[in-house]
Formats: sequence, structure tokens, C-alpha cells
Amino acid sequence: MNNPKRYTVTAALPYVNGPKHIGHLAGAYLPADIYVRYRRLRNDDVVFVCGSDELGTAITIQALKENINPRDLVDKYHQLSKDCFERLDISFDIYHRTTEPLHFETAQAFFQDFYNKGLFEERTTQQYYDSEMKSFLADRYIQGVCPNCSSDKAYGDQCEYCGKSLDPLDLISPISVITGNTPTLKSTTNWYLQLEKYEDWITEWLVEGKKDTWKPNTYGQAKSWIDSGLRARSMTRDGEWGVPLPIPNADGKVLYVWFDAPIGYISATKQWAKDHNKNWEPYWKDKDTKLIHFVGKDNIVFHCIIFPIMLKASGDYILPTDVPANEFLNLEGQKMSTSRRWSLEMYEYLEAMPDKVDELRYALITNLPENKDSDFSWNDYQLKINSELLAILGNMINRVFVLTHKFYDGKVPFSTGCSELEMIIKAQKSKVEQALETYSFREAMTETMFLARHANRILTEKEPWKMVKEDKEKAGIVLFDCFQIIANIAIMIEPFLPNTSKKIWKSLGMNSKMSWSEIGNVEMIGLENKISEPYYLFMKMEDEVINKQIAYLEAKTNQTIMSTEQVLTEEKELNQMAEVSFDDFSKMDIRIGEILTAEKVEGTDKLMKLSVDLGTEIRTIVSGVAHVFTPDEVIGKKVQVLVNLAPRKIKGIESKGMILFADHGDSLAFVTADSTVANGSNVK
Ligand code: 2FM
Ligand code: ZN
Repeated sequence: MNNPKRYTVTAALPYVNGPKHIGHLAGAYLPADIYVRYRRLRNDDVVFVCGSDELGTAITIQALKENINPRDLVDKYHQLSKDCFERLDISFDIYHRTTEPLHFETAQAFFQDFYNKGLFEERTTQQYYDSEMKSFLADRYIQGVCPNCSSDKAYGDQCEYCGKSLDPLDLISPISVITGNTPTLKSTTNWYLQLEKYEDWITEWLVEGKKDTWKPNTYGQAKSWIDSGLRARSMTRDGEWGVPLPIPNADGKVLYVWFDAPIGYISATKQWAKDHNKNWEPYWKDKDTKLIHFVGKDNIVFHCIIFPIMLKASGDYILPTDVPANEFLNLEGQKMSTSRRWSLEMYEYLEAMPDKVDELRYALITNLPENKDSDFSWNDYQLKINSELLAILGNMINRVFVLTHKFYDGKVPFSTGCSELEMIIKAQKSKVEQALETYSFREAMTETMFLARHANRILTEKEPWKMVKEDKEKAGIVLFDCFQIIANIAIMIEPFLPNTSKKIWKSLGMNSKMSWSEIGNVEMIGLENKISEPYYLFMKMEDEVINKQIAYLEAKTNQTIMSTEQVLTEEKELNQMAEVSFDDFSKMDIRIGEILTAEKVEGTDKLMKLSVDLGTEIRTIVSGVAHVFTPDEVIGKKVQVLVNLAPRKIKGIESKGMILFADHGDSLAFVTADSTVANGSNVK
């Protein structure tokens, strides 16, 4: 294949307004990492850039919610995301930040250039302003009655009930989502990029030019946006938390976050080049460089239309070769959402399964939402580990090592490469390549695992443990072939499961650097290799571990008291419990209660409906404990209850309050009280 050798690969810069979940990982970061690792194995010149998107309204709103300043907020979540990506072996060359001065300079230079070229139109319009917040409200932060369907929950940009696109000024009785106040109209000036001037160009470049090469989901969404007509879009906002405009008479104005964020890829590349004594420009300006943006489907428009128009307008930049966007990953059949607490955050997974990174990568890769939304479930995760990683790959390697130690003194039996095997491996290599080149990572993973299945087939058919009794040399050839397959797997699997690859490689006594071009070599492992003792590459994933995770998820979603902040500070690694004031603590009304009745909630595994005597009243509380206790075991228990938790409907039952538990990794226990304590006593 006649590939250009230089690749600039980007993964969407995540907002640092909270922790990131495994859906984000499956959407952009994991596919990008697989792709980049593959390119590196081919010795291509790759830079893989990412970093935190730290500016804009999403950040200031979250900072308000958490009652901290934006700087502290972004520092905290930047560190968290960065650490998680590192631990998940996402091999960014740089993880930058859009609050870095280099980024400000780069973004301002873009704006200045467009300004000088007259690409902006300055417009003064009326916009809603929240005087308590002292700021204009982004469309999403205004709610009101829809003029079309009368729903009272329509947003400033769209009514989610009838789907109609709206202008905030269309809303009847608008309110600020943040403060609940009625906003006032105030006039303000902004700079609009005239996207419509690029309509013909983008039609030719994208609609006509990318039809046959881009994934249908990416292409389809971008095309329908273009088909509905491009309009000028404001690239500035009123506010403080952003890149200030580099032009006169623009005090209090900052760049729109979607103007500066993609430029963040460029500033990250500049920083990386500086750190490594390289020139950044070929990575963004040489026409032989392939620029590839990995994003989730909610970012398609910005990466396929607005950013390319910006690159085109600037004149000397290359345009994206591809934008392999993924759809969304659901969790246990429901849309993932950090705010609704239906999510598996990356840090939560790492906390629960610190040494099971490749297990997660595998479960996600085999389930990537490449063409449509897909689902992560803990049971499927368990199945993938036990019946694929362990049963197919881990066991095969173990058998080969055991037999070699038993019959050949732990030395790889001598033979010469077999041409049939070479053909098989090379055929797989080209299938995997083909899949990787077209961003079909699920398929590439399956085709890689085919080699492990093939080795299992050889072992089952040839039964070297029997054969060795009659013909030791012939049995040795079988094992020799299996070793070659294992070595080839070690290379081929590296983009997907880098740590597994490392372990296999080490156990084979191999030190040299791996290269994709070695795949197909059927004489990689020979007598001189000192192989390790037999080992287990993967451990069985037990039911208890899985059930505990399912229970945790349900408990989490039922416990509205837990703010993201509180969930986050649970992470031991961070080891920095946020301080709370005495006032904060006193807001919680915790009392002693006694469980009077208990019954499992039908149609659920975990939920139990309890009636709890609080001294002055009896409350119904739904609690996620049915997988740990039977109703009989909980009746009569004195427990601590958070009684002023907002009531919540769970499976149609109104639950009023929350029972407190001590969670110690694998055990869940009530926080009880002495039987002499009267029901209703305050806990202080
Ligand atoms: O959706 C998001 O999380 C955005 N922060 C992605 C930005 S991608 C790029 F433009 F930086
Ligand atoms: Zn409506």
C-alpha cells in the first residue's frame, strides 16, 4: 500500500466539567489509540494529540454548581482525565490544556487572521441576560414554554418534546436554568463567521468528495447539515472564562469555545513539537500528512464542517482526511449519563478493577458503537473475559507452555517454519490491516483472535500430549507452530491489548522491538528463547465481582445525595476528600430508624421496598440491597437514614429517604445503631 508516512491523529478534547465515562472511551479515545498504535507498529510518523477542553459555559456552569472557581474545577478534572487515560493505556503523545498560554496565542492568531481578512460580520443582537449571574445565557441555559407544542421544558435552541429548532427569543415565559430567574434582554455585539460563503466549497469537498470514503454515519450527518443550508455563526461570547478577543473594543468578549477547542489540536501539536525538538508545521501543513479526527457523534458537525472551514479559511492548513465518528455506548440498556448517575466513569472502573485494563479494552472493542449505538453490560463483560480472553487466548498459551515444560524441559522444540502456517497468518494479517485501515476495530479484533482459535484447533486436532509418546519430534513441531502463532499474536494484538502483548512477549523471552512487518514470520521463536514458567494471562471473572458492580450502579443511581464531587472524592487514589463546612454537614438530617417490613421489588434483582419506623412516622424507602440480604435478614435492624433526601420515584414506588451503608470493597453493611437508641434519634 502506498501510504503517506505522516499522520496527525486527534481525539476530541474532553470538557473538564466532570469525570469521563466508558462511553467517551469507546466513542473516541480507544479507537484512536488502536489506530495510532497500529500506525506506530508500521513505523509511520504519527503524532497523537489530545487534552482538556477547559473554557466556555459548560465549565463556568459546573463551577457554579460545585461552588468553586473555574480554575480549581478544570485543574481537578484535567488531572483526573489525564490519569485515567494513562492508566487505560491510551498512548497520547501529548495531553495538553486549552488554558495554556500557547493555546491562547494560537487561537487568537486564528481569530486575528480571520478578522484581518474580513471573514467576520459584526452583529448587535438582543440576548437574554441573567443579572444574578451577571452573564448572558447560552441557549441551553434558557428554558420556557415552546411556542409550537406548549411544553414548558423547551430549551433556547430546541424543544425536545416536539423537536422544533428554536431561537431563545421564541420561548414563552423564559427562565434561567441556572438561577430560576426571568432573564432580561440586553443588546450585545458578536463576531459571526460567514459559513454560508463556504457552502459551495464544502459541498464539493465533503458532499461530493467524501461520499465513498467516510463512514456512512459521519457522512450522513454532515451532509444533512450542509443540505439544510449554512448560516453565519457567532464565534464570540460575552464572558470571562475564555480566550479574550485580540481586537480593540471587545472588552468582556471571549472566543466561542467551539472556535478555540479544535485549534487546541494545533496548540497541542506545537507544544509537543517544542518538547521534542521538532517542527510542528508539517503535521498540519504538509499535504502528504493525513489528518484524522476521532470523535463521538455529537461532535460531527464541528469536525466535518466548521473546523474544516476554519482550516480552509486560514489558507495553508491541510484538511481532515477522515473523521471516523462513533455512535453512543449505552450502559445496561440505558443511555449513559453522569448527571443522572447512570454511568460507569473511567475512574470508577479503575478503582474497582485496577489490574483489568485490557479486560475493559477488550469488552469495549468487541462492542464499539461503530455504526450504531451499542451496549455495555457487566454480564457481557464477564462473558467476554471468561469465554474469550481466558478460554480462547489465555488457556491456549497456558497449554502450550505447560506441555513445553512437561515434555521439552521448558525449551521451545526445534523445527523450521511451516509454509501453510505462514499463509494462514499472512491472510489474517491482511484481514486485520484492511479492517484497521477502515476503522473497523471490532472486526480487526475478531480477526486477531482468529489466530488464537486456530492454535486451539491445532492442539485439539493433533493432541501433542498423546503424540509425544510415539513421536516426540512430530509433537515438538506442533508446539513449535503454536509458539509462532503466539508470537504473531503478541504483535498483532498490541494495538488492542497493549499490556497483554507485553506480557506474552516477555513470557516468550523476546526483547527486540515489535514491528507490524514481522507478522507472518513463522520462525520468530526458537531454541534460544528462554520461555517463562506456564502462566495465566487472564483470571476468571467471578459472579460476585460482577454482581457487586451491578449493585453499585443501581445504588448509585438511586442515591441522589451523591454529587459528582462526592463520588469523585471517593477515589482513593486522589486521596483528597473535599472539605465540607459544618453548615454543609448540618444540612443533612440523619436519624435512627427501624426496618419494620421488607419485600423485594418485583422485576428487579437488587431493589427492596422497606418500611422504616422513624419514631414520629413510618417511611417507605427503596434500597438496593436485595442481592445481599433477604427480607428476613433486614427486618428489625436499626439503621441510619438520611431523612431529608428529596423523595424519588423508583420503579413506581415513592422512596422517601436513604439508608446509609458501609461499603468495604466487596461487602455491604448497614450502618447500625445500638438497640437501645430510640427510633427518630438524631445522628450528629
Ligand atoms: O464534546 C466535548 O467534550 C468537546 N469538548 C469536544 C471538543 S473537540 C475539539 F474540538 F476540541
Ligand atoms: Zn415543542
